[in-house]
Amino acid sequence: MRTLFARRTAWNLATNQYTQALEARRREGGEVLDLTASNPTTVGLQYRGDELLASLSHRESLVYDPQPKGLLSARQAIAGYYVEKESAVSPDDLILTTSTSEAYSFVFRLLCNPGDAVLVPSPSYPLFDFLADLQDVKLAHYELVYDHGWQIDFHSLDVALKKLSDESIVCRAVMVVHPNNPTGSYVKAHELQELNRICAANQMALIADEVFLDYSLTQQKPLTFSSNRFVLTFTLSGLSKVSALPQMKVAWLATGGPTALKADALRRLEVIADTFLSMNAPGQLAVPTMVEQRHNIQRQLMTRVRTNLAELDAQLSLQKLCQRLAVEGGWYAVLHVPATGSDEDFAIRVLQRTGVLVQPGHFYDFAAEGYVIISLITTCEVLTEGVKRMLHCLQAMA
Ligand SMILES: Cc1ncc(COP(=O)(O)O)c(C=O)c1O
Repeated sequence: MRTLFARRTAWNLATNQYTQALEARRREGGEVLDLTASNPTTVGLQYRGDELLASLSHRESLVYDPQPKGLLSARQAIAGYYVEKESAVSPDDLILTTSTSEAYSFVFRLLCNPGDAVLVPSPSYPLFDFLADLQDVKLAHYELVYDHGWQIDFHSLDVALKKLSDESIVCRAVMVVHPNNPTGSYVKAHELQELNRICAANQMALIADEVFLDYSLTQQKPLTFSSNRFVLTFTLSGLSKVSALPQMKVAWLATGGPTALKADALRRLEVIADTFLSMNAPGQLAVPTMVEQRHNIQRQLMTRVRTNLAELDAQLSLQKLCQRLAVEGGWYAVLHVPATGSDEDFAIRVLQRTGVLVQPGHFYDFAAEGYVIISLITTCEVLTEGVKRMLHCLQAMA
């Protein structure tokens, strides 16, 4: 049937059962112990609020100075962030955007004709489906497999590439989330080498989402894709996670790779950015302050994540039904529970019986049932009580 709307917006907009169950519980005034917190501004962190607010009232904001890549002072501050990681990102290689999502849309626009594909990891963050739909990009999936830690299943990547080629679909890029949400796994140096080889052999770019890069729980300093020179590489990040300031709407896109290709990509990206000029002046002028404040906020978040992990592990050690998967970084933990039904049904039952809200693995496209995700940035009191109730509930259901 002909409708007024484009096919790309023909989403299933029905509320899922999980959201219905949560809405019903809230309507009835039932308690909700939220183990899914992802908004850092509402979990009791101590921001230097006065400094942040003062940084937003520079007099220069009264003058409009349109810069397609963003104001130089802001890009210099972000280049300084990479200097700390021993990665030489020039301010000229950076383009500011209002969100990582917007940065994705710029890169998809740069690389893909309608119907072209991008390879994305699975399990991973569900927002990619919508971003791809909106840019008329087809997502193809490669698997991350768990065997004493998460690894890229390169066989699945080869199979996905071959399938696209058999269907005469052009694949333009491989995406990585580093560390991945929600598995908390970083891409390893040998995996980057293999990704470079595959991208070079198939004329593809690399797109790396590094929003959680700084939240590492391992001893080793994680690599950053911003220093990758072997293939055209787009590294995306932003202050929503780096400084836990999602409301400020500051993100960026760093372009790297072989010199000529990188220069060509940047010239084209500059036109895309110039078409929107989406950054506002006060926000850009505040970037140096907001980037600097990451030290204060990351310290608090790392303490929170480590304390919560220790509490979670202490409770898990007293039972056998639920295990935690290895986590190398990020804000989330993946738990394995007995797969007696769908993950969504499990999460709904836990909510209805105990008031504890967890996320079903199914939302992140896990290959099997039996996974739930909990947030490690939740306040320690809520996490302690929430995990206790969830584990009691699991025993009762066994
Ligand atoms: C892996 C990943 N990338 C990107 C984003 C979105 O970041 P932004 O707020 O900058 O669009 C999120 C948000 O949770 C995320 O988990």
